Amino acid sequence: MKQPGQSRRRAFSGVQPSGGLHLGNYLGAIRNWVLHQDDFDNVFCVVDLHRVTVPHDPATQRTATRDVAAWYLAAGLDPGRCILFVQSHVSAHSELAWLLNCVTPMGWVGRMTQFKEKSGAARESVSVGLFDYPVLMAADILLYDAHVVPVGDDQKQHVELCRDIAQAFNRRFGPVLVVPEPLIREVGARIMSLDDPTSKMSKSNPNPRSRIELGDSPKTIRKKFARATTDSLTEVRFDPERPGITNLLGIFRTLTGWSEAQIEAHFAGKLYGHLKKEVADATIQALEPLQRRHDELMSDLTWLESVLASGAERARTIARKTLARVHEAMGLG
Ligand code: TRP
Repeated sequence: MKQPGQSRRRAFSGVQPSGGLHLGNYLGAIRNWVLHQDDFDNVFCVVDLHRVTVPHDPATQRTATRDVAAWYLAAGLDPGRCILFVQSHVSAHSELAWLLNCVTPMGWVGRMTQFKEKSGAARESVSVGLFDYPVLMAADILLYDAHVVPVGDDQKQHVELCRDIAQAFNRRFGPVLVVPEPLIREVGARIMSLDDPTSKMSKSNPNPRSRIELGDSPKTIRKKFARATTDSLTEVRFDPERPGITNLLGIFRTLTGWSEAQIEAHFAGKLYGHLKKEVADATIQALEPLQRRHDELMSDLTWLESVLASGAERARTIARKTLARVHEAMGLG
């Protein structure tokens, strides 16, 4: 269901401002969004309301939110071609989340595996907000009539819940909400942890050597790659049986755009140390311009704040209309 005047399909995605974006975020998500900037009508949101579902530090939160936005802009998101905004600037997110809460069965939310993992043994003491996280996420998406939701595969279940909620709403109140689809991209989708290449690179891993932070210095990047877990074989080759080497090669492939065959030929007869050095060089080279731009944006926030303010204004215009339709359909007001 396209809205009048809307020629491209709309994509909505969100990122949590929980500090420290890493190479997996960049290669798996941000970079793809930038590359596909013109394929969709894009709306990107820094989801600070999701961040506060778990304990956070109020003193650093505002900066963390701007820091994430600065990385997106530094990576090449063009605010002239997309909407970039902060979730808490648009009150319609909280408002629609409440209304969706009232049409979403407890059982659907109780099945979410991420909640089960995140709450663990503390199930009784975590916040109601953490339980309700996926309903707020559904509100984010549905407010913008998004057709596609580019996410990592860990978020697929949440997008499916969003579909279920939209369909349940439409059955009860009429065809008001656009039912979105998840978009899970293969390229760069699985950048694995450097210490345990069988799990995804993640900011929640307690070992800082498991990930390359986007702000890491060249020296740190070299050191982390040099210590990355590999195996006791020697041949540099893509091989699912050797996840460490395959991960390093995968990072190299995503950064260079070379084919697997080209890469294997390039490293034929060379040792693991050589691969690690070249992956580090390619990473440093790719991150250097981003870091420079990011630091510029953070050193004077004037432009960044103006981008976020106009993003919020544009987001509000769309969100307000959806919320009005929902109110009308539910007999509110
Ligand atoms: N839950 C998502 C994550 O942790 C972040 C998110 C919040 C999101 N709202 C969204 C992603 C809406 C896509 C669409 O990655």
